[in-house]
Amino acid sequence: MTIRQRTQVGIVGAGPAGLLLSHLLARRGIDSVVVETRSRAYCEARQRAGLLEAGTVQMLRDSGLGKRLDAEGLEHGGIYLQFAGDRHHLDFRDLAGRTVTIYAQTEIVKDLITARTAADAKLEFEVTDVRVSDPGAQEPVVMSYRTKDGERREVTCDVIAGCDGFHGITRGLVPGLATYERAYPYAWLAITADVPPSTDELIYSRHPDGFALHTMRSLRTSRLYLQVPVETDSKDWPDDRIWTELSKRLALPGWTLETGPVVDKSVTPMRSFVAAPMRHGRLFLAGDAAHIVPPTGAKGLNLALADVRLLTEALDALLTDRDSRLADEYSDTALRRVWRATHFSWWMTSMLHVDSGAGPFDERLQLSQLDYVISSRAAATTLAENYTGYRF
Ligand code: FAD
Ligand code: DHB
Repeated sequence: MTIRQRTQVGIVGAGPAGLLLSHLLARRGIDSVVVETRSRAYCEARQRAGLLEAGTVQMLRDSGLGKRLDAEGLEHGGIYLQFAGDRHHLDFRDLAGRTVTIYAQTEIVKDLITARTAADAKLEFEVTDVRVSDPGAQEPVVMSYRTKDGERREVTCDVIAGCDGFHGITRGLVPGLATYERAYPYAWLAITADVPPSTDELIYSRHPDGFALHTMRSLRTSRLYLQVPVETDSKDWPDDRIWTELSKRLALPGWTLETGPVVDKSVTPMRSFVAAPMRHGRLFLAGDAAHIVPPTGAKGLNLALADVRLLTEALDALLTDRDSRLADEYSDTALRRVWRATHFSWWMTSMLHVDSGAGPFDERLQLSQLDYVISSRAAATTLAENYTGYRF
């Protein structure tokens, strides 16, 4: 038997984008149903991003999600750039008048699921066989799925939000989609470790053997990334090997990297990908469903949440006031920020990683660019403005 329901917005995917959209819409009295293939525990434990732009923090606060973020988030006023044996500080407060905040994606997802569950939201985990009818047709669109108990559900929706990440199904529903892509010839090995960070602010280090990044999750937990070859299997990297390599790539006279138990280890490919347009008829794409950036510069999560902020305004105008202007502009407006972040992430990635296929000429260009960033206020301001977030 098929159970039929009705909602205003059918949301595919309960990552940060889908969950925040459902939360923001509910605050404006707009009903939604969220379907997610993974379990709640899996979504809450999935280790990913950790750094929030100033505007992202403010939006989360403004939407009633600031309590734990303000208590546990770590505000950072800059970063260190390390290359050619020296470590240099960039002061974002001075350069851009803004800060960034470390607060893990896992914690944002937990806060959102707690808020949605407390509000009795329709949020279904562990669904299978999610299908969406033609969003380009005149009639309302139907999102159907099987619950974890095997029951078939059909939800008639005014619109669909495709928040199902890079491997989701909704992007494929946009006919004539243009895609722009770049794969990078390296990957990141990521670890989370039970050891207090050895630094007050993030260290981005370009070393002749490859890039390394020291970030953190709290004052007790460190997170570190190492550039590794694309085909790397994390099983080939026992903890000792990882710490030895990190200690070498982050080394500075008089400074020691503290080591500790590794509690999470994964390999992330590096890719730039943009799909356009981000709308087809009643379907709107948001977050990783439409675009991916390489993680250097920490834009992925911030972009996903910025899409959702725009989409909330557009859907509120469309569904509450029958005003389609913002919905019609959604894709162009979102893509302006997406392309800026795509350029910044590509630039940071290319400047800091060692490409084994490139020669000494490229290496000299990288070092010259890094030298320019730390010695010119204009160049440092460009990095700081992009890193701390966009005003558009
Ligand atoms: P997702 O978080 O991918 O959420 C999509 C959700 O949709 C998932 O829960 C998925 O299970 C669900 N789904 C998929 N298909 C279906 C379907 N058919 N039906 C229903 N549900 C479906 N960004 C940074 O800024 N810094 C980082 O350090 C960083 N590290 C990363 C590491 C990894 C391994 C990955 C993959 C990404 C990383 N990112 C990082 C990017 C950042 O995590 C993403 O940009 C962010 O998660 C995007 O959120 P989203 O909600 O758009 O997509
Ligand atoms: C983090 C990840 C990044 O890619 C980055 O540039 C900064 C911080 C993080 O996971 O904390």
